[in-house]
Amino acid sequence: MKFNFPIIIIDEDFRSENASGHGIRALAQAIEKEGIEVVGMTSYGDLTSFAQQQSRASAFVLSIDDEEFGGGSVEETEVALRTLRAFVEEIRFKNADIPIYLYGETRTSRHIPNDILRELHGFIHMHEDTPEFVARHMIREAKSYMDSLAPPFFRALVDYAQDGSYSWHCPGHSGGVAFLKSPVGRMFHQFFGENMLRADVCNAVDELGQLLDHTGPVAASERNAARIFNADHLFFVTNGTSTSNKIVWHSMVAPDDIVVVDRNCHKSILHAIMMTGAVPVFLTPTRNNFGIIGPIPKSEFEMANIQKKIDANPFIKDKKKKPRILTITQSTYDGVLYNVETLKEMLDGRIDALHFDEAWLPHAAFHDFYKDMHAIGRDRPRAKESMVFSTQSTHKLLAGLSQASQILVRDSESRKLDRDCFNEAYLMHTSTSPQYAIIASCDVAAAMMEPPGGTALVEESIAEALDFRRAMRKVDAEFGTDWWFKMWGPDYLSEEGMAEREDWVLRADDRWHGFGKLAEGFNMLDPIKATVVTPGLDVDGDFADSGIPASIVTKYLAEHGVVVEKCGLYSFFIMFTIGITKGRWNSMVTELQQFKDDYDKNQPLWRVLPEFIAKNPRYEKIGLRDLCDQIHGIYKANDVARLTTEMYLSSMVPAMKPSDAFAKMAHGEIERVSIDDLEGRVTAVLLTPYPPGIPLLIPGERFNKTIVDYLKFAREFNKKFPGFETDIHGLVAEKSNGERVYYVDCVK
Ligand SMILES: Cc1ncc(COP(=O)(O)O)c(C=O)c1O
Repeated sequence: MKFNFPIIIIDEDFRSENASGHGIRALAQAIEKEGIEVVGMTSYGDLTSFAQQQSRASAFVLSIDDEEFGGGSVEETEVALRTLRAFVEEIRFKNADIPIYLYGETRTSRHIPNDILRELHGFIHMHEDTPEFVARHMIREAKSYMDSLAPPFFRALVDYAQDGSYSWHCPGHSGGVAFLKSPVGRMFHQFFGENMLRADVCNAVDELGQLLDHTGPVAASERNAARIFNADHLFFVTNGTSTSNKIVWHSMVAPDDIVVVDRNCHKSILHAIMMTGAVPVFLTPTRNNFGIIGPIPKSEFEMANIQKKIDANPFIKDKKKKPRILTITQSTYDGVLYNVETLKEMLDGRIDALHFDEAWLPHAAFHDFYKDMHAIGRDRPRAKESMVFSTQSTHKLLAGLSQASQILVRDSESRKLDRDCFNEAYLMHTSTSPQYAIIASCDVAAAMMEPPGGTALVEESIAEALDFRRAMRKVDAEFGTDWWFKMWGPDYLSEEGMAEREDWVLRADDRWHGFGKLAEGFNMLDPIKATVVTPGLDVDGDFADSGIPASIVTKYLAEHGVVVEKCGLYSFFIMFTIGITKGRWNSMVTELQQFKDDYDKNQPLWRVLPEFIAKNPRYEKIGLRDLCDQIHGIYKANDVARLTTEMYLSSMVPAMKPSDAFAKMAHGEIERVSIDDLEGRVTAVLLTPYPPGIPLLIPGERFNKTIVDYLKFAREFNKKFPGFETDIHGLVAEKSNGERVYYVDCVK
């Protein structure tokens, strides 16, 4: 396939009618005659944004005209070289390989210092060679650069999709042809385009290799990604990190094994517990009263503490058995990270495998900012005995298609991964018809992170996230005593550019985080996760007289085309992925300003939330501030912040193994129990309130009073404020005598 990557020429005479202008345009025409597009520009403008052109160009030609060097004095030469050097540095910060040519009149390499010369692919002199010869020379370099870009699987897939083979294999749409046979099919075809459909092939195509056996170009890509991520083994997964987690678990864990698990882990880990028949002991994270989940305190990881939990668990028969796996969430939804080297020191050899669920952290390996705060990376010591696993959602923070995920493995000094055994677990969870576009996106996402490009991308995300915080603070300062949203994070914020890693490490005495006394240097906050706090609740859980529940702000934002990642009681959360632009976060700031304006004017809801009102006309005449006051009032009256914090920290007593409770459901040995009768009953299902989307009770655990009180509150709240319902997965709503009655499926 012919990709369109122009050669970019920067010459202030590009449009001038002088000899220099004629010379450079002759070169441009010669390049275009060879079929390569040329973009001619007369200046760099803003260097940082200009350097971004490196992602769309196949080469740069930078002119250095004699006039720029004046009389040739040292000072004049320095001035002439300043912009050139700055541009070359900006390009090389992001891209080590793109060809850069200098194009000069009489200047030679004698006038250019080594730090610039060593970054160049050539120095062309006007009038010495024909434009045609120079053009061909450049195009050769540009082509060889372009040929080096595509990683193995993506390259093979592009070739296959282009080579015009007739397919007799699945999928049945046969390269998209089936869609052309119906009008709606044609719409689908036009929307997704031919390439996506031609590249949608099945594992009968030998030349692409096999995901399930890790052969051919797929294997080459996995090896390439392993090199980039500094892992000993790396496996692409096409069904999300939910599946990656289950694969890791099934490769390590069997019935009745002891497993040590973050209580606030993702539900896929809880599913893995149910599927493997393991007996979990949980480590409980801190929580602040904003509902933000904090770190598990360092003391919880001490083996003596873990042993106490093992001793207290009635379902563990052999109390001396070594735990098989530890899984923690790295980072948490809100961006809290653990120092992995400290955890390795504490647990190496005491637990067979240390598994870091890094669904939200695939970027960390590419920047020193996150040093030691991620599982696997450059210059990290090998554990002596424990294997280290990391599971990452390529699709969450890197450029992967939905469900793109990967498993990274680091062997220990004494144990190597048995790839064949591991693959048995991989096969158990992987579709035999993987989506090839997802594999290609895993391949490309990894290649994009190859330093220096990957490092630059991560640094840009952090810098954008910091700029957003700075902009929010500036707005706050300008409003003075008037209210404005706050950003959850350290009080100190560097004034410009990148931050120091140390500024984001959570300190024991800092009040802002609300997690109490934490061990020094054990945790940090990832700045690219930005939690916006709405007025009405402080970090101690105390309610102000008036307040703005976050769900109203996020509904407002959604109606204005801004969709946030997660919403809590008085906070919501946005992420600075590598796809976030200045335009996007600046629009967030202006939309929040709009919200403030409408709130202060108490604008009627029909005006500011028309889509919501179309579905919920009962709120039509209510003002925005009045609605906030009403919902805030009920939260305050029920002390909801403390109630939810206490509920998550309350003691969850296991009455049976999770897998046994789930089996009861499969056998129909369950009954629907209404909220009022739940206390003391054993749940057969996962109970997960949204927000925050973290499972509260898992199959086999008993309902306690705090949890039942919370469910009663949710029932009352849902009745009073339809449209703002607290969504609780696992809670079944049925209509009885015109009333909504809520049940949970419990073990009989
Ligand atoms: C911590 C954690 N692990 C795993 C997952 C599952 O990832 P995926 O959506 O890629 O299946 C999520 C999803 O939000 C998550 O938050």
